[in-house]
Formats: sequence, structure tokens, C-alpha cells
Amino acid sequence: MRDREERMAYNLDSFVADCRRFLAADPGPKGRELIRRQLEQLISDPEFLARYCADAKPGLAVLYEDAELGFQILAHVNGKARVSPPHDHGASWAIYGQATEYTDMIEWERLDDGGDPAKSRLEPRKRYRLTPGHAGIYQDGMIHSIDYPDKSIFIRVTGTNLDKISRSMFNLQTGKVTQMTPQRAT
Ligand SMILES: [Fe+2]
Repeated sequence: MRDREERMAYNLDSFVADCRRFLAADPGPKGRELIRRQLEQLISDPEFLARYCADAKPGLAVLYEDAELGFQILAHVNGKARVSPPHDHGASWAIYGQATEYTDMIEWERLDDGGDPAKSRLEPRKRYRLTPGHAGIYQDGMIHSIDYPDKSIFIRVTGTNLDKISRSMFNLQTGKVTQMTPQRAT
């Protein structure tokens, strides 16, 4: 029975139900890791990809927002290549699931004590490429940057609507820390 269930198509509704169940049981890192694994299943499903990614117009689509728990599922359909500055997701977490092309990720460590917003110091700690079917998780406060080519699509799950919280981005040349505007830098 279990094998049969695992072979069945996995769709957005099933993913939403799983996210709700996992976060209700554990809203911390463990619950989110379970979401990351299921997101890999979702972005590997041919029907999901056909519906939300193939022929999708460039832009940002909110696929789901949970009225009770606050998490969001977003489709980032990127037409043009882009490199983002290092940024955090404020007090939220974010999970990136690659659907098409790839995203090069860098995870950064902040070396200064945060006391002077004009003089941050960051050092890269981890670099890797997210390829289709793979999802990366960025827990609260983690700083990352993303670099993707034309037609890269990723599905992102965030703990809350990031447009409503304060997030920081970092200028590597000057060290200056600025607040991000809605959906900027992702
Ligand atoms: Fe991000």
C-alpha cells in the first residue's frame, strides 16, 4: 500500500496538506525539513510542472497562502538571468525548489557584530547549484545569494509573507546593509 501511494502523482493540494500537517506538529527546523523533502517531490511531478512551469509567463505567482499558519507557496518564473545580492529572509525561513534550469546558491556568514549597518562583513561559507528536483532550505536569519540563468523557475515556500516583514540585503563592496522592498532579491 505504501509503495502504491508513493507512486501516485503528487499535486499542490497534497503538498499544502503536508505543509500544514508538518508545521502543526513542529514549526521549527524539523518540520521545515520535511516540507523541503516534499517540495522535491512536488517539483518532480510531471503534471505539476506542466501546469505551473511549462509555458508560464515570467513573473511571480502566489500559488497558495495559508490563512491560519501564514506560509506561502510562490512560483518564481524568471525570464532573464540575474544575480542577487546577499540577503536574509528576516524572521522567516525560506525553501527554494528548482523546477527548471538551475540556481547557484551561496550561503554567507556575517562576521561583524551587526552594530554598524554601514559596515557589515560577510564571508562565503557554502556554494552549490540547485538543479531541477532539488530544494534548499534557509532557516531564520540565514544569509544567501542566488544566481540563475534565463528561464530558471523555482518554487519557493516561505514561513510568512515576506513583504510584510523587515529583511536585509548586504552590499559586498561597501558593507552597507539596507532594507529590502517587497519581493526584491527573493
Ligand atoms: Fe532568498
